[in-house]
Amino acid sequence: MQDDAETRLTEAVIARLSDKTDPRFRRIMHSLIRHLHGFVREVELTEEEWFEAIKFLTATGQKCDAKRQEFILLSDVLGVSMLVDAINHRGADGSTETTVLGPFFVHGAPEIENGGDMAAGWKGEPTYVSGQVRSTEGRPLAGALLDLWQSNSEGWYDVQLADTGGKRLRARLRTDADGCYRVRTILPTAYPVPTDGPMGQVLHRMGRHPMRPAHLHFMVSAPGHETVVTHLFVRGDPYLQSDAVFGVKDSLVVDFRRSESEDEAQKLGLKAPFYSAAYDFVLRPATGAKQRSARSAADTAPG
Ligand SMILES: [Fe+2]
Repeated sequence: MQDDAETRLTEAVIARLSDKTDPRFRRIMHSLIRHLHGFVREVELTEEEWFEAIKFLTATGQKCDAKRQEFILLSDVLGVSMLVDAINHRGADGSTETTVLGPFFVHGAPEIENGGDMAAGWKGEPTYVSGQVRSTEGRPLAGALLDLWQSNSEGWYDVQLADTGGKRLRARLRTDADGCYRVRTILPTAYPVPTDGPMGQVLHRMGRHPMRPAHLHFMVSAPGHETVVTHLFVRGDPYLQSDAVFGVKDSLVVDFRRSESEDEAQKLGLKAPFYSAAYDFVLRPATGAKQRSARSAADTAPG
């Protein structure tokens, strides 16, 4: 049974918020304190559990470094990242749906020419992805920037591997005069989110698997438009219904068609057999603030 002292404590903490603070910050802190106290009361947190939580958050922070972002992973596996995504991209206007940034974005991927090979000799099944970038009004966006990143055929990102010789399986390229892009790579594969840290233990205790369905990451931007942070998922992947980070949306599940035609492969600069996928990205016009917020989300990722 909740007593008056408990209620008064919550009110006292909220009352200490200064009237002079930024109104948005004040609103967030007011709600955070109210919900956090409500949560502690609801589960009647024991002192041991409170200390376990402190140790868990400490370990989460200690696991982060220039290449590892355990807090983004925490947000992802609890579905918070996708909730923030949903709230910030409401309204069906025909623009490409967004999904999690994930913990493996890195600034400054190598620039390649449109049609170039982002796998650069990395072992895997040859894959060709192409399409157009346009605005919601249907105008092709020439010179739009695509930032791509993916795991290798064994499910590892370059930042998880030693001695990759720099940034691998990442690229930036620009659309041509018709807003079209083409890229050669290897077929992405399903992989587990990192389980060697606190998040692995939490997933295990919740009885959840750590797998993400195969996907290619895209960040697509063009002046005057909202940046789209999204994935293309490989249709048929066994984990599409149970993505560890809840990132799958139907519109982002794409056919990666297998072909054994040597002629077709040669025309695309690949070897048969190969896979190909086609996907058009549609960007909505942006206010300056919206465009900046998508970029600053990326800025929190390790770089
Ligand atoms: Fe990923």
